[in-house]
Amino acid sequence: MFEVNKNKCIACKQCIKDCPVGVISLKEGKADINNDGCIKCSHCIAICPVEAVSTDDYNMDEVIHYDKDTFTVDADNLLNFIKFRRSVRKFKNKEVEKEKISKIIDAGRFTQTSTNSQDVSYVVVREKLGELRDLAYESLKDKGEAILANLTPETEYLKRYANMWVSSYNKYKEDSANNDRLFFNAPLAIFVISPTPINGGLASSNMELMVDALGLGTFFSGFLLRAAQGNKKILDLLGLEDSNQIISCLVIGYPDVKYQRTVPRKDANITWI
Ligand SMILES: Cc1cc2nc3c(=O)[nH]c(=O)nc-3n(C[C@H](O)[C@H](O)[C@H](O)COP(=O)(O)O)c2cc1C
Repeated sequence: MFEVNKNKCIACKQCIKDCPVGVISLKEGKADINNDGCIKCSHCIAICPVEAVSTDDYNMDEVIHYDKDTFTVDADNLLNFIKFRRSVRKFKNKEVEKEKISKIIDAGRFTQTSTNSQDVSYVVVREKLGELRDLAYESLKDKGEAILANLTPETEYLKRYANMWVSSYNKYKEDSANNDRLFFNAPLAIFVISPTPINGGLASSNMELMVDALGLGTFFSGFLLRAAQGNKKILDLLGLEDSNQIISCLVIGYPDVKYQRTVPRKDANITWI
């Protein structure tokens, strides 16, 4: 429930004007929230100049007052940070601390969601990473073999990957410590789960930025998603029922690679109208 402390409310109407679903009105000279249509976005909490609004739906202790020094990022620095981000595929033999994992999850948790549905969840794989790795290699090998055995014009484009999955599996089986082309010996993987792809995708992107800010490295593994697709053993391990809800998998660890500069990219394809 969202509530207005009537003793504090100064009837400035800022919450009324900012509420995206129009469920706040003035009643007897004070703001009043109709919780029925409320989407719990908490804009009323964020905007109130006298801290009159609160809720028991979330932990109010998490709310931090605006502070220019710690809440702003220089635009050029941010762009450089985005440009300098690289997919990391070489990791040190070092665990990722739990506090850092919590910050990565928080970067996802505080990302916007459509109608504030907050329908994104996370599976953090640390202890069972070895098990997941074995299952993923097997799954991709099986999928690769099936593709190669039934090649059609429609699946021709997958031939290259199918061959790669089968040969990666064989190399991994020969020497798993030195031939891990799926996880690159990273100590951590986080699966981002959501029924709403855009919500999971946005959360994933912010999580990746946080990974970088923490001095860690990551890459999004599309191969792991493919391995998990319809694979009951992997889904059981992750505690999931529907592989369609796996939006991304971030493979994370301490980078064992150093980049010296940003990379070039295609020009932006923009239509100005
Ligand atoms: C959705 C998605 C899936 C990806 N899947 C893989 C993958 O399975 N294995 C891998 O090594 N890299 C994967 N990548 C990393 C891309 O290859 C990488 O982002 C791209 O080559 C650009 O390099 P950069 O991230 O360093 O800028 C994936 C990236 C995205 C966005």
